[in-house]
Amino acid sequence: MTTRQQPKNLWLGRWGFVLAATGSAVGLGNIWKFPYITGEFGGGAFVLVYLACILAVGVPIMMAEIAFGRRGRGSPIDAIRRVTRESGHGRLWSLVGWMAMLAGFMILSFYVVVAGWSFSYLWKMLSGSLGGSSVDDMMAIFVANNENPFNLGMWSTLVVVLTMLIVGKGVQAGIERSVSWMMPGMVIMLAILIGYGVFSGGFGEAVAFLFSFNAEGLSSEGMLAALGHAFFTLSLASGAILTYGAYLPDRSSIARTTFSVAAADTVVALMAGLAIFPIIFANGMDPGEGPGLIFMSLPLAFQSMPLGTLFGILFFVMLSMAALTSSISMIEASVAWLNESKGIARKHAAWGVGIVLWLVSSLAMLSFNWGADWTLAGRNAFDWLDYLTSRWMMPLGGLAMALMAGFLLRHEIFKAELGLSDTQHALWLFMIRYVSPLGIVLIFIDALGIATLHLASQWPWLLALLALVVVIGEVASPRLRRPRDA
Ligand code: PHE
Repeated sequence: MTTRQQPKNLWLGRWGFVLAATGSAVGLGNIWKFPYITGEFGGGAFVLVYLACILAVGVPIMMAEIAFGRRGRGSPIDAIRRVTRESGHGRLWSLVGWMAMLAGFMILSFYVVVAGWSFSYLWKMLSGSLGGSSVDDMMAIFVANNENPFNLGMWSTLVVVLTMLIVGKGVQAGIERSVSWMMPGMVIMLAILIGYGVFSGGFGEAVAFLFSFNAEGLSSEGMLAALGHAFFTLSLASGAILTYGAYLPDRSSIARTTFSVAAADTVVALMAGLAIFPIIFANGMDPGEGPGLIFMSLPLAFQSMPLGTLFGILFFVMLSMAALTSSISMIEASVAWLNESKGIARKHAAWGVGIVLWLVSSLAMLSFNWGADWTLAGRNAFDWLDYLTSRWMMPLGGLAMALMAGFLLRHEIFKAELGLSDTQHALWLFMIRYVSPLGIVLIFIDALGIATLHLASQWPWLLALLALVVVIGEVASPRLRRPRDA
């Protein structure tokens, strides 16, 4: 049963997948979240753990995810069902696809609120309404911006509408066409902003902050945040990469594209740090400012700098484009599923999903005003959506996909899809079977407080544990791979 699925859609250009997947990966996560969590968790050491998570956990799982998509040629639900069926396993595994699709939808429902901030600050910059503000004014402006649900809702609605317009147009005419100008555009703008940062006077301090290693700053909380962020920033386990992979032509190399996307994503995150922190330091501000870092400190800093408004506008155009190219990828899985499995025309599917999305995102939006007190266990709707997806659904989904690829499904599928040499394949298999899952599990155990593992300082024990797991896994794997109903 090695029938290959026929694709319904394919990327048109040679760079179609790389541009779209990089567009998905590069987003608010890189420019808004990465700098501020790096600031919160103390800089260099956090960056190092984050890079390790990208390489050891993110890259192998991304390869598996693209392989799932290309082999199954469909939305996460359909693709995973087909691939598991091909290996003689039951339908239940498609639950992993359901969870991924749901995660993408849930992420987008709070993501549009932050993307809406970006659009609204672009508007503020353009209209000059931030002129002459002080630190306190900036706080007040940020609060006021969120206080009025109609104002905030208007901006998040705009993001929902733009996203659905693009996705509704289709894979080639909508997604591929928009990323093919937005991605180069945003990278150029970011490079210009770094140039500006170099001359702002805080560049050296920013480099020291991002790249100097201080192990004290590294807490368990920071490690979990680094892992969660690696998933988030690479758009893993949320249906985005898998669905884009379903449109990848057979001749493209999955390994090469994965490395391009992961490298581009990492470079942009570091570039964002190099664009933002110099300006923050040059103005004597605190890098550990939190989520308000780029919405309060940065606009304030721009105010006091030569040509600041111009560069401020550039910054928020760049941020808004980065957010949009990610938004479209989060919802493509749901739209593709309705279109392929339920036979609903793409445009109708996009608007249908858009309406449900708008309703759920309203809950996230209201968390900043009327619904600020609608909390459950201390979290409002926005925080719950973020917490459930980044801390749980993505790592668990990634774990499930890693174990499926490593132990459950037929080797031939991944041999054929990944097309690696024997040594490379063995390395990938080792990573996906042991290193990625163990990384995820240990960080979970540590973060849940089940045991304090001091992961950073327990290398000998960790290696021994890895060896033990490898032995058990190698003994058990032929049994696991045997199809249930064969
Ligand atoms: N990777 C995107 C970012 O860094 C967010 C994202 C998550 C996009 C999940 C798609 C799916 O902003």
